[in-house]
Amino acid sequence: MEKKQLEQFKGQARLPKSAVPKRYDIKLKPDLVNCKFEGAVEISVDVLADTSFIVLNAADLVVDPKSVRFSTDQTGSKLVLEALEVELLGEDEILVAEFPRNLPLGVGVLSISFQGTLNDKMKGFYRSTYEHNGEKKNMAVTQFEPADARRCFPCWDEPAFKATFKITLEVPSELIALSNMPAINEKMDGTVKTVCYQESPVMSTYLVAVVVGLFDYLEDHTSDGIKVRVYCQVGKASQGKFALDVAVKTLDLYKKYFAVPYSLPKLDMVAIPDFAAGAMENYGLVTYRETALLYDEKHSAAANKQRVATVVAHELAHQWFGNLVTMEWWTHLWLNEGFATWVSYLAADSLFPEWKIWTQFLDESTEGLRLDGLAESHPIEVEINHASEIDEIFDAISYRKGASVIRMLQSYLGPECFQRALASYIKKYACSNAKTEDLWGVLEQESGEPVNELMNSWTKQKGYPIVSVKVKGQNLELEQSQFLLGGSPGDGQWIVPITLCCCSYENRKSLLLQVKSETLDTKEFLGCSISEGSLADTGVWIKLNVDQTGFYRVKYGEELAARLRYAIEAKYLSATDRFGILDDSFALCMACHQPLVSLLTLMGAYREELEYTVLSNLISISYKIARIAADAAPELLDNMKQFFINLFQCSAEKLGWDPKEGESHLDAMLRGELLTALAQFGHVVTQNEARRRLNAFLNDRNTPLLPPDIRRAAYVAVMRTVSTSDRSGYESLLRVYQETDLSQEKTRILGALASCPDPDIVLEVLNFILSSEVRSQDAIFGVQVGIEGRETAWRWLKDNWDYISKTWGSGFLITRFVSTVVSPFASFNKAKEVEEFFASRTKPAIARTLKQSVERVHINAKWVESIQKEKHLAEVVQELAHREY
Ligand code: BES
Ligand code: ZN
Repeated sequence: MEKKQLEQFKGQARLPKSAVPKRYDIKLKPDLVNCKFEGAVEISVDVLADTSFIVLNAADLVVDPKSVRFSTDQTGSKLVLEALEVELLGEDEILVAEFPRNLPLGVGVLSISFQGTLNDKMKGFYRSTYEHNGEKKNMAVTQFEPADARRCFPCWDEPAFKATFKITLEVPSELIALSNMPAINEKMDGTVKTVCYQESPVMSTYLVAVVVGLFDYLEDHTSDGIKVRVYCQVGKASQGKFALDVAVKTLDLYKKYFAVPYSLPKLDMVAIPDFAAGAMENYGLVTYRETALLYDEKHSAAANKQRVATVVAHELAHQWFGNLVTMEWWTHLWLNEGFATWVSYLAADSLFPEWKIWTQFLDESTEGLRLDGLAESHPIEVEINHASEIDEIFDAISYRKGASVIRMLQSYLGPECFQRALASYIKKYACSNAKTEDLWGVLEQESGEPVNELMNSWTKQKGYPIVSVKVKGQNLELEQSQFLLGGSPGDGQWIVPITLCCCSYENRKSLLLQVKSETLDTKEFLGCSISEGSLADTGVWIKLNVDQTGFYRVKYGEELAARLRYAIEAKYLSATDRFGILDDSFALCMACHQPLVSLLTLMGAYREELEYTVLSNLISISYKIARIAADAAPELLDNMKQFFINLFQCSAEKLGWDPKEGESHLDAMLRGELLTALAQFGHVVTQNEARRRLNAFLNDRNTPLLPPDIRRAAYVAVMRTVSTSDRSGYESLLRVYQETDLSQEKTRILGALASCPDPDIVLEVLNFILSSEVRSQDAIFGVQVGIEGRETAWRWLKDNWDYISKTWGSGFLITRFVSTVVSPFASFNKAKEVEEFFASRTKPAIARTLKQSVERVHINAKWVESIQKEKHLAEVVQELAHREY
């Protein structure tokens, strides 16, 4: 092929549209012993423009050039063109086939035979391993999103090239072989069977899936007869029951909500022992990590149960939002992920109202706000120029900010209008592709509101506003500016749907803040006369962003802030608002807009808090404060910890160690988090009790003394007391790790090991997670070091970077190593050291994460300096630590 001709296809973000696929006929023959596969595709393509080239994606495949041919019989006489030349361009991941003449316009069939390796990288067509009757076995699994179908068969691997898929598998006859559609024909031939699957409706390549291995399953049906199955390791079928129930109910729910039934004849959900993400929504064949699908009555915790329900609800939401209606390009990934995240809460709330899941939604917004408070954030709609950039945008912006701005819009338009619009959007774009503006168009039409303009300000620019509110004379003054954790304000501006209530939840107002600042007459706008002077009256308070449905932060003037503290203590405010006030105050403090003493004083107002979500956030904020105090004011750390212990002790004592008959799901989760916090902060009574209960557990894994909800607490407590001279607790946990066959138990242990204060033990733990005893999908859980371990972790990361980069470098898990190890630092020098180390080691897949992590180190460093300048910190902390509750 001439160089010049090839050149035109290189370095392009998208494939040319001169020929487009309509139907794939794919045959795959995996060899599970030698970890190889063979395959052949016949792709019906529509040739739309005069060309003698066909360009499609292929990567890591060996293509037999002689097999590449194009045939048509449009005019009744068959024409077969053999490719003159076939080039595979590695960097662009494309295959270019040149034919001896221009291809006839219209439909023809492109055939290609190829071979590949069942890789160990958890993407493309890969192998996962499991044990059966004590023997180690391989299974073959696919994971194609975002752009790895091309590693399994040559294809137009972009979401907009939808086609139908007819799949045939040739596999060992004793194994179960699954694909998107039901099998329609199975032929046995000795030790091999050939399974043909029904042709799929049109779909994108990233949703194609195949699983081949040994499984048990459970089965149920939806009310309109769709067969739903959960497949898991042989002997574990009963652990699939909970997910199966959730799936059946959720399918019925979505059918009503989207006003369109589930579009395939069956749904299979499979637990895969090695899995990079949490789960993957392949059309009709959803794959999961074991921890996200299996629930064990005896050994899973309430938090595990909730995780299973929300992951199932999320993946099933994609069957509509994503699979039926698909993003046109990865720039609109958030339409998939933001929506599925938001809808999963809707489903969980309907199935389990007692979980108060919308209160827990605030964890999503907080994480979205946290990432989007960085200068190195990105807009929800983000430009993508190369496949290697896609992985990194499966982040808190696409998922959590995405879900949060949807929630904000829903609450602005009202749930009924919103649902009607969604249903008509799904109907309008079913079996095709949509962009962000297509959704806004339908919502705008249904609501009559300027949705496009409003939402563009949230999806096309990064960041979000902080709204300052003050009472000045008779007026309420509102002003927006871009909030950045790095301190100085950015220059973004938004159309902000403001809600506020004054003195009671009945007195609720709303407005759109379209400009930088606005002054409202309190009497006219609020219907009650609040003036600067009246703020001394205790009953008066104003809360903005009611129920925290808006994606912004609020800064109150001093008097308003004091009134809110009082309202919290007097229990006037809802849990969501208590959460929001605390969270905004924490963010302001971190950005050095507010002294730490104000935040600590506010935290004191939560001493009688009992609500799970609020306390859970209070706990995670106190961890972060303790971390920064270790750098900023180490001499105050003991008093600080004592204050936190005081804060949590009252609710911890109320809940005790043992589950109460009929207690709520939220109390079960709260108990674990409270005890973990007490253990982390060095509460000796908790640490001793944990040891006693762990010993009982070591003697009998079914002891009632250590139910799953408090196991993590006990593991952390024990690790806090382990040292090189007393390793017994550590070794016991390793034994539990090795003996359990429940993935959730393994994860629980991994997450606790590195919290040990002894750096030598931490190093041992970090080396352990690189060993063959830990599946590579799980290693990242073991990197959670305490403040004492961060230097060890950094040295370890540097020493092992080549290995880590080689093992995890081709997926998104690598970013977690970088952010987890780097972000806890809090000095400018360390930031420089990190940048220097990575200067010669960075690559596209970690570039964004690295910049974000370094920015966090800068933010921490500034925060340290600001705390060190605070005058009354020592007195306040001293007072808080010794206050009687
Ligand atoms: N589509 C994603 C899976 C995915 C993630 C593919 C990253 C490629 C790269 C799936 O729907 C998903 O979002 N999974 C989540 C779980 C969900 C409950 C938030 C995950 O894997 O963490
Ligand atoms: Zn998703």
